[in-house]
Amino acid sequence: MSKLRVGLLFGGRSVEHEVSLASASSIHRALDPTRYEVSLIAIDREGRWHLGRPELPPEVTVDGAVVNLPAAPGSHTLVSSEGGALGPAGQVDVIFPIVHGRGGEDGALQGLLELAGVPYVGSGVLGSALQMDKETAKRLFRDAGLPVLPWVLVQQRELARDAEAAAQRALREIGLPLFVKPANQGSSVGIHKVETRGQLVPALRDAARYDTKILCERAADAREIEVALLGIDPIEASVPGEIRTRRAFYDYEAKYVDEETQLLVPAPLDPEQTERVRGLAIEAMRVVEGEGLGRADFLLERATGEFFLNEVNSLPGFTDVSMFPRLWEASGLPYPALLDRLIELALERHRARSALETVYRRS
Ligand SMILES: Nc1ncnc2c1ncn2[C@@H]1O[C@H](COP(=O)(O)OP(=O)(O)O)[C@@H](O)[C@H]1O
Ligand SMILES: [Mg+2]
Repeated sequence: MSKLRVGLLFGGRSVEHEVSLASASSIHRALDPTRYEVSLIAIDREGRWHLGRPELPPEVTVDGAVVNLPAAPGSHTLVSSEGGALGPAGQVDVIFPIVHGRGGEDGALQGLLELAGVPYVGSGVLGSALQMDKETAKRLFRDAGLPVLPWVLVQQRELARDAEAAAQRALREIGLPLFVKPANQGSSVGIHKVETRGQLVPALRDAARYDTKILCERAADAREIEVALLGIDPIEASVPGEIRTRRAFYDYEAKYVDEETQLLVPAPLDPEQTERVRGLAIEAMRVVEGEGLGRADFLLERATGEFFLNEVNSLPGFTDVSMFPRLWEASGLPYPALLDRLIELALERHRARSALETVYRRS
């Protein structure tokens, strides 16, 4: 059987560019060379796509030929912006997008891949957009009866008009301590824990640098529990894991810099807690229309023992030491098999979508 050509698409115009490179590197090394040919496609910081030379690791493909993917269905072919042939590397059977943040994880890239008619790993347009927007996701979770912490939404224009009034409203409705977060961001960028009144306006202004929608959410004194999800229907949940950091919360430093951040796999939970959080995770993934992969993150409040759903990430960190692959490893699915499964799911979903009618036929 001929090998499947996987386009590993990474990088991008976001603060998580480096994180994406690290994930792509791990995936590249783990994709079974007897089953797949890999085309490395790097998105540089200006948003241009480059087709890498196969012998080079993802970190250095950014100097490859500039290419683009035409939004015309069915060709599956990257074209060179300078003209000229790209050879087999430009002809992909499936795309594995590992582009974090805005433009990569929020449905925009998925929209392009849909228009191009290429099968791709992970959630579609709607699922990606819903998971990226913390505020919309929280409204859906609440409507579905899933436990979420109370929040208020502050708009950037409210801040520009009267920041003090916006802060007062948050203090009145949520109280201190609270978390301020941009609605569409990741890696804890722009997130602040606010403990005093004086910290609130500066925190709101900083968050407003990253998004026009800002959440003020009750801060919970909580353990952080994560569950990895895989599948479309059915969705399967991994064993839960726990993050322990010595910092005030799981901020950017704790995620990527501090070597003392611990990932406990499996999380020390009793059997009922484990079953409860896995069930909530599957339900959460359904509510935000997640497909293929996801990671549901929870806050387990110390005082009450209650789980609060924090978010579902459509594109969790994917290096071989990241939580998502480690949770699957601990659940009996090693990293290379996990990649096989994700690619299979992408092809299955594409087949199912392609079978839908595009013209109206009277029956
Ligand atoms: N309401 C909250 N109560 C306690 N900790 C929180 C709360 N919201 C966020 N955090 C902390 O901030 C971190 C990042 O917030 P999160 O909403 O997960 O954003 P991101 O998408 O950047 O990961 C969490 O992992 C947690 O440590
Ligand atoms: Mg998070």
